[in-house]
Amino acid sequence: MSDMEEIVPRAGVIGWPIAHSRSPKLHGFWLRQYGLAGRYDKLPVPPEDLGAFLTALPKEPGFRGINVTIPHKMAVLPYLAEIDSVARRIGAVNTVIIRPDGSLAGGNTDAFGFIESLKAGAPAGWSAANGPAAILGAGGAARAIVVALLDAGAPILRIVNRNREKAEALAAEFGDRLQVVDWEKRSETLAGANLLVNTTSLGMSGQPPLEIALDDLPRTALVNDIVYSPLETDLLARARARGNPAVDGLGMLLHQGRPGFEAWFGVPPEVTPKLRAAVLAD
Ligand code: ATR
Repeated sequence: MSDMEEIVPRAGVIGWPIAHSRSPKLHGFWLRQYGLAGRYDKLPVPPEDLGAFLTALPKEPGFRGINVTIPHKMAVLPYLAEIDSVARRIGAVNTVIIRPDGSLAGGNTDAFGFIESLKAGAPAGWSAANGPAAILGAGGAARAIVVALLDAGAPILRIVNRNREKAEALAAEFGDRLQVVDWEKRSETLAGANLLVNTTSLGMSGQPPLEIALDDLPRTALVNDIVYSPLETDLLARARARGNPAVDGLGMLLHQGRPGFEAWFGVPPEVTPKLRAAVLAD
């Protein structure tokens, strides 16, 4: 390479498949908005190539780090020289930084993204610490949300999952603020809740609907769906119709991108209505 060629800072998202990732739109918008020279690309990496990819990554000119998505969020762990405590507790990494010595540091910004999204969308005075949270689901997304809500001071986390054993495993791991509730009791468990979060795939386009009665949910409870396709899920529409504040699932995706962007490109980015529109556009 000649001295005249400029090496721009680079990042990207690894996954398999990766075609549907919205992260390039998110980071691409911010790069343009802040007038930064930089690149953020979709990086298709099949599982059998993960080790070779991560070993070669620090030698790639300009690369500052990557986001990690399905199916690599757990598989990257053995390749990291350092893993932050939140990522350790969640058991998955979504953001990797290449350090000056070429070693890799991993973190998980999903818990941050979840809480920041709620903060941005909740009415003044609402706090996760104010009362019990009802969490539908006990999969990977639920783990990040459990860690986020524990750290935000939620006094009780009611974990409602079709497969009760998975909810019990979460409770055994994360302690006695977690309570396990049978899937059949999902409507009753909303009594007295301060927050309702759907972390299941129910209600997503092409998936079965989420059947839950909201009658027992206090009108002050915040309702959040991590599903963002459709953006206005049936759950959110029914919550708003009865007067509950509601936050859609796009915010978590946008806010989880902030720490990585700042680390790679040096500017703390903002989540704005224009960004939302750009990421939603096809
Ligand atoms: P993610 O990483 O997005 O959380 P996941 O780990 O596959 O994905 O978890 C999917 C969640 O949706 C699980 O809690 C799953 O419930 P089970 O543990 O009982 O499988 C929940 N889920 C998916 N389809 C469901 C359905 N038809 N009814 C109830 N829960 C469902």
